[in-house]
Amino acid sequence: MMTPHSLRVDKVLKHFSPIVRPLLNFRAERRLEKVVNIADLRLCAESRLHKMIFGYLDTGSDDEISLRRNKDAFTEIEMHFKVLAGLAPPLDLSTKLFGKNVDIPFFASPCAGNRMFHNEGELAVASVAKENNSVYCLSSVSTTSFEQIRQVLSHDHPKLFQVYVWKDRDLLLELFQRAKQQGFESMALTVDAAWYGNRERDIRNGLTVPPSYTMSQIYEALKAPAWTWDFLANPVFKYALIRDDLPAESLAHFVNSQLNPAFSWDDASWLVKEWGDTGPRAIKGICRPTDARKALDIGFTTIWVSNHGGRQLDTSPATIDILPAIRKAVGPNVEIILDGGIQRGTDIAKALALGADGVAIGKPYLYGLAAGGRHGVAKAFSILRKELDRAMGLLGVDSIEELKSDGDRLVQKRGCSMRDTQGARYSHAGLI
Ligand SMILES: Cc1cc2nc3c(=O)[nH]c(=O)nc-3n(C[C@H](O)[C@H](O)[C@H](O)COP(=O)(O)O)c2cc1C
Repeated sequence: MMTPHSLRVDKVLKHFSPIVRPLLNFRAERRLEKVVNIADLRLCAESRLHKMIFGYLDTGSDDEISLRRNKDAFTEIEMHFKVLAGLAPPLDLSTKLFGKNVDIPFFASPCAGNRMFHNEGELAVASVAKENNSVYCLSSVSTTSFEQIRQVLSHDHPKLFQVYVWKDRDLLLELFQRAKQQGFESMALTVDAAWYGNRERDIRNGLTVPPSYTMSQIYEALKAPAWTWDFLANPVFKYALIRDDLPAESLAHFVNSQLNPAFSWDDASWLVKEWGDTGPRAIKGICRPTDARKALDIGFTTIWVSNHGGRQLDTSPATIDILPAIRKAVGPNVEIILDGGIQRGTDIAKALALGADGVAIGKPYLYGLAAGGRHGVAKAFSILRKELDRAMGLLGVDSIEELKSDGDRLVQKRGCSMRDTQGARYSHAGLI
């Protein structure tokens, strides 16, 4: 089918971009200035994006119960603050993740096709990771290559490659080689998405990648002129780690045909061996303590507790609820990352207190990207950074180390406390 991109309309439009883009983005930028928290950023993203793209970003699966549960669970956790700790902002938020020193304990989780949300895409996110000295993680289905990311992030910057296992194993091994050449020392194998979740917003919105030119999609495109201009005035986005030579139309088909729903522990074991033991190896999408142990047995070094942001198996538990059991199962020395439902600095503090070494954020930075490119991602990071600083100051802890070591005294789940605590007190006293 003939499309504006097949006719290379982008080559003509790009000459008008210096005048047209600022005009079309004027309102979005004004709105971004007023943003106070992540919920505000979400509204900015919704108003700038094409409806189907916002739906893809924001959706959960089925009835979206896990999507809400991930967030709600944080509200059930109380912070038992210490007073008069004598702290002044800004606190030191630095820690060590994936074997490297970083300035903040949270980072951008790997998310597919960043250029879908804003033309600056993954490069904007990498640039904010550099500014914050935080981990950067590139998705297997990114719209930017390792080599392009390397233009922004030095060889030594902590970088992870998130892996989906394609049926074409030669392609996978070639990607491993390319990743390592560009200084991606660590990898994260995603294991909760071998089967694709049922995302009903995408079905209702008629999501296609690349977008199709039906009447309703064109109507929606006209309602989102800033997004539409960027889409039409730039080269069409491609999955940069897959096949550069494939036209966009056949890429979606290629990705679908390459995902392997029958992927098993044997395959995971093969893959972790192929990566080798040169750097940390994370398994992303763990929900059960027994699976965490099994992953360590076959050679993974980092457990990433995640349910894909509530986009896969609906009614799976909130990640923060299962974190303590997973920490208990793997012991104190194994690195744990948690993602899912983080919207506030207090959420990050709670995750660290309950057993995580680091926290990944997905939708919060994508809202920022969609709302205003690099500027929006920087805003998301700065909101969470300030909120975490304030949460720690009010809680009375002056370092990530203290938050982690004193966590179980500072942060407690509401509801299960009083009677259990009394029982525990009696048992300590030898009365029962
Ligand atoms: C639009 C979108 C695309 C995603 N793409 C990927 C991906 O390519 N690989 C992956 O491992 N996880 C992917 N995820 C999941 C995130 O890495 C992360 O686990 C999740 O978003 C965390 O939950 P949160 O969005 O509530 O922060 C994606 C999430 C979103 C929202």
